[in-house]
Amino acid sequence: MKNVYLDHAATSPVHPEVIEEMIPYLKEHFGNPSSIHQYGRRARKVLDDARTAIAASIGASRNEIIFTSGGTESDNLAILGTVSSLMEKGKHVITTKVEHHAVLHTFHELEKRGFEVTYLAVDEYGRISLDELKQSLREDTILVSIMYCNNETGTTQDIKEIGSLLKEKDILFHTDAVQAYGLISIDAEDLNIDLLSASGHKINSPKGTGFLYVKEGVPFLPQGFGGEQERKRRAGTENVAGIAALNKAAAIANKEREERFAQYMKYRETMKKIWDEESIEYLENGSDEFFLPHILNVSFPGVKTEVLLVNLDLAGIAASSGSACTAGSLEPSHVLTAMFGEDERTKSSVRFSFGLGNNLENIGYAAIETAKIVKRLSK
Ligand SMILES: Cc1ncc(COP(=O)(O)O)c(C=O)c1O
Repeated sequence: MKNVYLDHAATSPVHPEVIEEMIPYLKEHFGNPSSIHQYGRRARKVLDDARTAIAASIGASRNEIIFTSGGTESDNLAILGTVSSLMEKGKHVITTKVEHHAVLHTFHELEKRGFEVTYLAVDEYGRISLDELKQSLREDTILVSIMYCNNETGTTQDIKEIGSLLKEKDILFHTDAVQAYGLISIDAEDLNIDLLSASGHKINSPKGTGFLYVKEGVPFLPQGFGGEQERKRRAGTENVAGIAALNKAAAIANKEREERFAQYMKYRETMKKIWDEESIEYLENGSDEFFLPHILNVSFPGVKTEVLLVNLDLAGIAASSGSACTAGSLEPSHVLTAMFGEDERTKSSVRFSFGLGNNLENIGYAAIETAKIVKRLSK
């Protein structure tokens, strides 16, 4: 039996070069970047270099990057940091029904704090309607948060069009780019993005690393209190080794971006081709026009998600029912429910997601094993 990890959208292995990069900052260069002695200065340089490089990777400037503990913190900080400084202007905010819980639950919290939230619907491909967004905008709308690429389906939104619409209306635009950063080219300026969240562990950096881009001039209040790190926007001693790792992982991902994109396209086509050859019935959940290729979400009619996942696991294949937060529970995914309503399709879906360590051979094995299991279970 082979072991094939196909859950890279949940988390990814740390790249060997990233591990090498971190070690000196755990062993010799362990200083606190706020210290003035040589140990501190050495650590400070890591932060400066990483900030410059990561800013450049999204066409931003170094003062616009805040290092965080990952996607969840970046999303929370983006939303709470801006709305708390704009409450005088209005208390209406907009997001979508298919966001990751890091965004969705932050908006639920805003409702408790007296904000009015519009949750945009999506079509059966997981896409919002620009017209609905336009119609939802009000005089008192202060923030719109729409994800770049959905973590369950891989569906992408029209970030550029949304950005230019919101710029015209002078409304802040946050995008959760956790599943997009490192796989496609992103220029925050060109896309008119005011705030962007990214997470390290989706791009082969350790868990607990990430960043938030906050465009210069965007009103923003810190949400935690302590030292003056990150230009008083995020208190706490920085995760120096983690930031060194994030910088290295981002450099590798951005260098190999096009190659990885093409590889993942091939992987998804290979899996589908094998299922077609094996005459397996499946439905693809997502858009075949607006998507990123590392996520392949499919429903196998008549086969229950949980049963399929357990059988895949027994065959050495690690896949998922969707977001890691809902995996293991029997709740149907909020993303698929937003796309299809209470349909059987939401109860037979599996997400395969590709990354480091996958190759055509192990992808082929996984597809054949999946076909065998689906045949057996749907008998
Ligand atoms: C789209 C999206 N946003 C946010 C997060 C949360 O990121 P983290 O696990 O780094 O907190 C995830 C993680 O699955 C995600 O896929």
